Amino acid sequence: MSILSELARGPQSVEVVEVGPRDGLQNEATPLSTALKVELVDRLSTAGLPAIEAAAFVSPRWVPQMADGAEVLGAIQRRPGVVYSALVPNERGMQAALQAGVDEVVVFSAASESFARRNINCSIAESIARFEPVARLAQAQGLRLRGSISCSLGCPYEGPVAPAAVVEVVRRMVDLGCHSVDIADTIGVGTPGAVQQVFEAASRVLPLARLAGHFHDTYGQALANVLAALELGVRSFHSSVAGLGGCPFARGATGNLATEDLLYMLHGLGLRTGVDLQAVVDCGEFISAALGRASSSRAARALRAARGG
Ligand code: HMG
Ligand code: MG
Repeated sequence: MSILSELARGPQSVEVVEVGPRDGLQNEATPLSTALKVELVDRLSTAGLPAIEAAAFVSPRWVPQMADGAEVLGAIQRRPGVVYSALVPNERGMQAALQAGVDEVVVFSAASESFARRNINCSIAESIARFEPVARLAQAQGLRLRGSISCSLGCPYEGPVAPAAVVEVVRRMVDLGCHSVDIADTIGVGTPGAVQQVFEAASRVLPLARLAGHFHDTYGQALANVLAALELGVRSFHSSVAGLGGCPFARGATGNLATEDLLYMLHGLGLRTGVDLQAVVDCGEFISAALGRASSSRAARALRAARGG
């Protein structure tokens, strides 16, 4: 059966989670002003993105680019229905996130011990223990808790990662109370067969409807990986406008799949996102100009050329 007929059998709407303001900007050598970050988030919500990772309440010693998360969340125009989320590594970050009024809290660990150590300075088990008070506070406040698992398709320090290692972390995140979990390919090494394997394995612990694909495009595989996951039934994907980003603790990792490229493919497949592609292209031009470099979205460049720009 062709992939198109497989898609026609599943839900026809796809959730696009915009991670540029967090995953993208955390990696910028030149920090962006708070005002520009606020404008970026507001342009993205105006474009129709239903969920935006807007901040990270992490140690400013580790990631100075995210130090103004409270100011960003305090200044944005909250669009009704949009979920504004933030990364939280521990209880201290959770208190700050609560004060800032996040809609969703993202706890993050890894499928490989070496990456957990480099990124959050603890073992996977220790990270889960740190998330317990975070999860309790989220539950007490009625906030959604999401889990994100780095290096689900390969680790810069350990190489290949077994799906079983990912499943184990999914299980622990579900036990914490996460309503959904992101399978993240931090260094973009995954290929479509491996993506299907890891999602199939993870779906034995958490239904596909509550799993999301977070693909970095380092090896040019991100769109193919989205298609492979769509074919299985995954309907939530992360991307960043203009393909911003990377991870400061994964050398050589490039940005996420560009939101413009993801939308172009999803809309071409007849899937609904509720997002205005042209408005995201304009937003990509705005942020690329602010950062002083070209967008890495192929679709954005092509659409601009077609407009004669
Ligand atoms: P640590 O150094 O082991 O712990 O950091 P610590 O408790 O000794 O804290 C160090 C300093 O940070 C102390 O300050 C703390 O007070 C402070 P000092 O006394 O030295 O002045 N601190 C905090 N400050 C503000 N907010 C906090 C906080 N916690 C401690 N919440 C820690 C451990 C987890 C805090 C640190 O390693 C950290 O913040 N790591 C975050 C790294 C990060 O943000 N990485 C990028 C995001 S993950 C990602 O991009 C992957 C993802 O996109 C999916 C994918 O693609 O893979 C999600
Ligand atoms: Mg990432």
